[in-house]
Amino acid sequence: MNLIKLFTCHMASALPAVSIFIVSTTVAFAQTDLPVVQIQADKVTAKMPPTFYGLMTEEINYSYEGGLYGQLIRNCTFKEDAIQPNIRANAYDPSKYYPATYRANIAPRFWSGVGGATMVLDASTPLNDALNVSLKVDAAAASKTSPAGVANGGFWGIPVEPRTTYKVSFFAKAAAGFAGPLTVSIESADGKTVFASKKISGLTGDWKKFEATLKTKSVTPSKDNVFKITTTDPGTIWLQEVSLFPPTYKNRPNGDRKDISQLLADAQPKFLRFPGGNYVEGSDFVNRFNWKQMVGPVEQRPGHKSCWGYWSTDGFGLPEFLGWCQDIGMEPVLAVFAGYTLNHDHVTNSAALEPYVQEALDEIEYVTGDASTKWGAQRIKDGYPKPFPLHYVEIGNEDGFDRSGSYEWRFAQFFDAIRAKYPQLKIISTTDVKSRVADVNDEHTYVNETAMEAQAFKYDTRDRSNPTKVFVGEWATQTSSPTPNMAAALGDAAWMCCLERNADVVMMHCYAPLFVNVSQLTGRDRSMQWNYNLIGYDALNSYGSPAYYAQKMFSLQKGDEVLAISARNLPVRSAPAGRGGGTRQLKSLFYSATRDSANGKITLKIVNSADTPQLVTVDISGAKSVASKGTATILQAANRDETNSIKDPKHVVPVTEKMKVLGTSFTRTFPPCSITILEFEAK
Ligand code: AHR
Repeated sequence: MNLIKLFTCHMASALPAVSIFIVSTTVAFAQTDLPVVQIQADKVTAKMPPTFYGLMTEEINYSYEGGLYGQLIRNCTFKEDAIQPNIRANAYDPSKYYPATYRANIAPRFWSGVGGATMVLDASTPLNDALNVSLKVDAAAASKTSPAGVANGGFWGIPVEPRTTYKVSFFAKAAAGFAGPLTVSIESADGKTVFASKKISGLTGDWKKFEATLKTKSVTPSKDNVFKITTTDPGTIWLQEVSLFPPTYKNRPNGDRKDISQLLADAQPKFLRFPGGNYVEGSDFVNRFNWKQMVGPVEQRPGHKSCWGYWSTDGFGLPEFLGWCQDIGMEPVLAVFAGYTLNHDHVTNSAALEPYVQEALDEIEYVTGDASTKWGAQRIKDGYPKPFPLHYVEIGNEDGFDRSGSYEWRFAQFFDAIRAKYPQLKIISTTDVKSRVADVNDEHTYVNETAMEAQAFKYDTRDRSNPTKVFVGEWATQTSSPTPNMAAALGDAAWMCCLERNADVVMMHCYAPLFVNVSQLTGRDRSMQWNYNLIGYDALNSYGSPAYYAQKMFSLQKGDEVLAISARNLPVRSAPAGRGGGTRQLKSLFYSATRDSANGKITLKIVNSADTPQLVTVDISGAKSVASKGTATILQAANRDETNSIKDPKHVVPVTEKMKVLGTSFTRTFPPCSITILEFEAK
């Protein structure tokens, strides 16, 4: 009885609903009593929302630039060193563009001179108002035997794959007396191997766009490479928007990296919450997510400083978010800037808020409008003829941090305007509001494995009369960095069981953050700003963490109906109690069941987070018969510390096996530290 007593004592106050049951049964069963998971096949508690599993994204950890976005050149617009004006909300005019300035006589970051060439940022020779600086390259030292120019090392390397065509483009102009040609090339960083090169001629004294392709031969994949623009003739040139793209996912122009896109597509997410997160707010008004400066040709986009500390060229802007949705089959969940920034600055009255409300309405029009609308027409011009399906709009992000209480009236103003123009849209709040009834509230949770398992029954006791539904728009079990290990995946799976069981109140959810570039985890120029992330990559390779595989399993394997499910004799495990030291007793078995209404297939999820195998009885009531065969998909690791990495990307992955189902009541042993999904048909 030891385990049961311990569990009863601890859980009685923490989890009333379940503990009542346990308390009442403490004396009723012996130590050997098996945990029983009871599915009521004749009781549907919810329709599984079609967009239940999705993704959350923002520019953090080099998610787009240096990540998903195909652009391989780092600091391709030379604005990484831009000095942004510091303007408070009350002085800021949202319709105005506030140009960046630059220190004199500095060389841009992430570029280097080659063959004795010197380079300097030149604000007196801009490409246009948005890209109001260029790179002046003085290649006076160039000769036939010693080419001179500039090199870029990409985002911790330029990937080279065999037999692959890379697209180069750049804007250039030349000083009098120089007409080129220039040579563009991809070379190994030590200069010993030229993988591909091409000559480009036709430079004049005016800005012109140049394009070329570079094709590699049968080489070994590598990333310790650079991209170069050089000349063998002495002269001076200016460069801007220097771009190098590998083949992109679904061949989209200005598109996405293939391997990372494939990982996402494989998990079949149904929505994308973008553009944040903190990224939608920005660290200040000048650097908020100003979507109108992120549409149209990339060379017309000024870029801004991401709140995560590095420059966003915004080549991955609003159209690219939508292209990403289209390519993966996701629906946008659009977060709009709501007049509040991360430095706790916010607009102070409703007249000042009005332009931002109009911006949000225009943004919705960009996403959903047809050719007859101003912003729908702009989207079509940007390459997306069909309007996007949109059901959810989120007002701001984590506005509970705004201690002034301004969210109450800011939300109300957005809510009223959006409801009036787009009554079909569901409006998401980011913290409690009183004056309006939000359709959905976005609740975030980042905790360690123990805390996640402890809260894995949270929504079972939620007040069902609350008209506001739940969107868990950011959550993660934070254990092991840069990407989560098996322990975290177990916490995640326990949590997802909770979310599935409660799909009548939880409309959708998404893990965060999604991406991390793992090239340089520490130091000033680090590639990681947040320690726990679902998918990792460097310039060449990518991998999914065990948490990614848990997500993928849950997303792929589910029915459209949630079935009533309960459990008794739940086992417990000892886990570290936290800062105070000691241990705590935690439930170690988690569960949810759904059914496919088309064929009666039941999908039962069981998480055994204990370090020992667990025998469980599964009882199915309300079904006359259960097919004798089914499948079991299992994500399991030798211990909870096991993980995947860039060097060992598939160390922990799910396996699927056939299983026998022995009627409406059967027992099965669930391995230690495992996530199991059983699928079988029932009538
Ligand atoms: O996911 C990382 C950050 O966590 C998000 O930007 C923010 O919304 C939350 O605080």
